[in-house]
Amino acid sequence: MIYPIVVYGDAVLRKRAADIQKGTDLMQLLADMYETMYAAHGIGLAAPQIGKSVRLFVVDGTALDEEPTLKDFKQAFINPVILTETGTEWEFEEGCLSIPNIREDVSRKEKIKVKYFDESWKPKEETFTGMKARIIQHEYDHIEGKLFIDYLTPLKKRMLKGKLASISKGDVDTEYRILAPLRK
Ligand code: NI
Repeated sequence: MIYPIVVYGDAVLRKRAADIQKGTDLMQLLADMYETMYAAHGIGLAAPQIGKSVRLFVVDGTALDEEPTLKDFKQAFINPVILTETGTEWEFEEGCLSIPNIREDVSRKEKIKVKYFDESWKPKEETFTGMKARIIQHEYDHIEGKLFIDYLTPLKKRMLKGKLASISKGDVDTEYRILAPLRK
C-alpha cells in the first residue's frame, strides 16, 4: 500500500518517535514503506513521514548511478541509535519528500557508528561513511523530530518561510500524494 507523504507543518514530523517492541512483525509496514518510497522516487523514508511515530526507516540508494558507493545500500533500520559521529563536516545539497521542491546545503560529519536491528530483528553495529552516513543521518533526524531545514541560517529560514507555509497548505506540486496539515 502506498501511503501519502506527510509534509511540513504536521506535528508528527516534530515528535521524537517511540521505540518499537522487539520482535514486532514489521513485514507489511516495511513493504509499504519501500513501496511508498519508490513511488515518490526517494532514497530514504522514515516512519513519521507516513504518519507513524515509531523508530524505523528504510533506505535504497541502489538506483543512484552517480553514487556507485550506494550500489548495495538497501536496508531497514529498526530502533537505530547513532553512537558516534566523527570526521570532517562536509556540505551537500539535501532534499526531503516531506519538504517538496526545496533543496539546501547541509553540513554533516562524514562518519557514523550506528547500532540498530535489521528486518529480522538481528542486532547490528556498523560504521558508515560519506553518502551512506548522510542518508542515515537525515533519516535518523526524522525519528528525532528534526528536519534538514533546522540546520539553515536564520536568514535562509526566513527566505523559505513563504514556501514552507505553502507546503503546509498543500499548495505545492509533487508527483506523489501528500498529506498537508493545513489543507482546507
Ligand atoms: Ni527527509
